[in-house]
Amino acid sequence: MRADPAADDEALVAVLFSRLFSAQTAPALLTAWLLHLLAGHPREQQRLREEARTVLGPAGTPPTVDPARLVATQHALRETLRLYPPAWLLDRTIQSPTTLGGRDLDPGTEGRVVTYLIHRDPAHHPDPDVFAPARWADPQPDLHRGAYLPFGTGGRYCRGALWVTTIAALTSAALLRRHDFRHTPGTRVCPAFGAHLEPTGLRLDTHCASPG
Ligand code: HEM
Repeated sequence: MRADPAADDEALVAVLFSRLFSAQTAPALLTAWLLHLLAGHPREQQRLREEARTVLGPAGTPPTVDPARLVATQHALRETLRLYPPAWLLDRTIQSPTTLGGRDLDPGTEGRVVTYLIHRDPAHHPDPDVFAPARWADPQPDLHRGAYLPFGTGGRYCRGALWVTTIAALTSAALLRRHDFRHTPGTRVCPAFGAHLEPTGLRLDTHCASPG
């Protein structure tokens, strides 16, 4: 606990604002990155569309809601979060003397965990730059617990993770069962590493998907 209570209040307000901002922005970024990847992988997009129609019912009918059955969609979301984690950088301030990777770190030392780089480390993720949702189809008992951190880990694990993945699966399935997404000609997407990882330049055209 710090000596200055006002500083604690300020820190608390800063954390709350950051969390509120994240809770609004990160889900939208997750859907945007997913649609970007699916626009570049039409066969995967069609696979998810077929799953959406099987689970939600055909386009134009009221959807039945069972997110657990959207298995391929959940894998695609997991893979999107691996390639483009909206929270690409986690900050830490060392609180007590710590040894990490053989280095002694004093209290007050600032650390950065770059999830974007960890998620693309070939030691943990074969063909790390390839969008391959199927890699999540099989259980990965050997995956190091620090090798996939889109929602953080430990005591600060994201409180919205389950909610947001459920909503993202349902939203994308609802979109995909009706619409076909393609990049607008000339689109060039560049990841922007700001407060969140954003797909700058993303432009998508939507067409009515052919009835399944
Ligand atoms: C795709 C969407 C989201 C992503 C990628 C995401 C990611 C994260 C990450 C990486 C952390 C850990 C931060 C750290 O260790 O420093 C975190 C914490 C947190 N997230 Fe999320 N988040 C998302 C959506 C949400 C939503 C929708 C909510 C609330 C409804 C939420 C609430 C929280 C809270 C309260 C914490 C802080 C937990 C703590 O420190 O005790 N998040 N999130």
